[in-house]
Amino acid sequence: MKKDIYIADDKILSDVLNKPQLNKDDIVYLLSLKDDKDISELFRKADSVRKEFCGDEVHLRGIIEFSNYCEADCVYCGLRKGNKQLDRYRMSVEEIIETAKHIHSAGIKTVVLQSGEDFYYRKEDITRIIKSIKDNCDVAITLSLGERSFEEYDEWKSAGADRYLLKHETANEKLYSALHSHQKLEERLAHLKYLKSIGFQVGSGNIIGLPGQTIEDIADDILLCKEIDCDMCSFSPFIPSKDTPLRKISKADLEFTLKTMAVARIVLKNTHIPSTTALGSLVENGREKGLEVGANVVMPNYTPNPYRQNYKIYEGKICISDDPLACAGCLRLKIEGMGRKVSEEKGHSLKRIKR
Ligand code: 5AD
Ligand code: FES
Repeated sequence: MKKDIYIADDKILSDVLNKPQLNKDDIVYLLSLKDDKDISELFRKADSVRKEFCGDEVHLRGIIEFSNYCEADCVYCGLRKGNKQLDRYRMSVEEIIETAKHIHSAGIKTVVLQSGEDFYYRKEDITRIIKSIKDNCDVAITLSLGERSFEEYDEWKSAGADRYLLKHETANEKLYSALHSHQKLEERLAHLKYLKSIGFQVGSGNIIGLPGQTIEDIADDILLCKEIDCDMCSFSPFIPSKDTPLRKISKADLEFTLKTMAVARIVLKNTHIPSTTALGSLVENGREKGLEVGANVVMPNYTPNPYRQNYKIYEGKICISDDPLACAGCLRLKIEGMGRKVSEEKGHSLKRIKR
């Protein structure tokens, strides 16, 4: 992280933590805390805000990474089109539906359908998947398919999809353009706005530790999530992927990642915040650490073998060789071991009337 010299003699930590609204200056101050005692106080506050606004329940979202083909070329991502080293796969419509049934049988009430930006799956294919899952399983459906047409969003919403996850990645426009040669931040934000306007619960978020990113940029990421009024926001650490232009960039700092999640919880209050697989891959027990500083969602991976090992967004992704059915059981034990509860509900947005 570049600017690391934030000095705020005039601020008292407890005063800032108790302010009803934090401005950018406050957020930068909190993200810049260095003293262990201060950082612990920040984490405690985030945990109490999480308890007050979200309760003790942790929502599980079963994710199916159904295709690693990608038309996008994000420089940080192992799935980028320009990566010719990756073994590509696509699951069939039937395989995807079968996997969703496994998730449902495991008592998980949200299915996340994620892929690279893969236009091989036409509007009708995704519609068929959504309808069939909704007919067979009492689950919420989150789509995470990248930028698609507004017409497709309309149809998938009508078919029964509940949520759409499309991270803004970075709120810094210049950095966004440097990382995504064919995409613009403005365009991404227009998609998020449209998705929200047609009734999707929307998820956004950033990557922490991108080259050239500053603490101010991270503060802007948090404030942008607030402005979009996201229902879910994911703040995940950058981890280098070997066959990408960023392979030599260091992975994100654990403490800074946790501080970002904690500040995000304090600012965003009742927004769902996942403890990401990337955080779990950054350090051992990373996901548990995230749950202690504000997170209330975890996404067990249900991508079946042999595909799951090839959804290589970054190096060292956890659970890659595990039996997908074991993953959720393992997470449940960890969550209960922390004195938290696994939610039995779909875990819809906390910003809306319960459905
Ligand atoms: N490190 C961490 N997260 C990454 N993503 C892509 N590449 C990386 C990386 N190297 C995240 C992006 C994308 C999501 C599917 O994975 O935020 O939205
Ligand atoms: Fe854009 Fe993977 S290529 S996130």
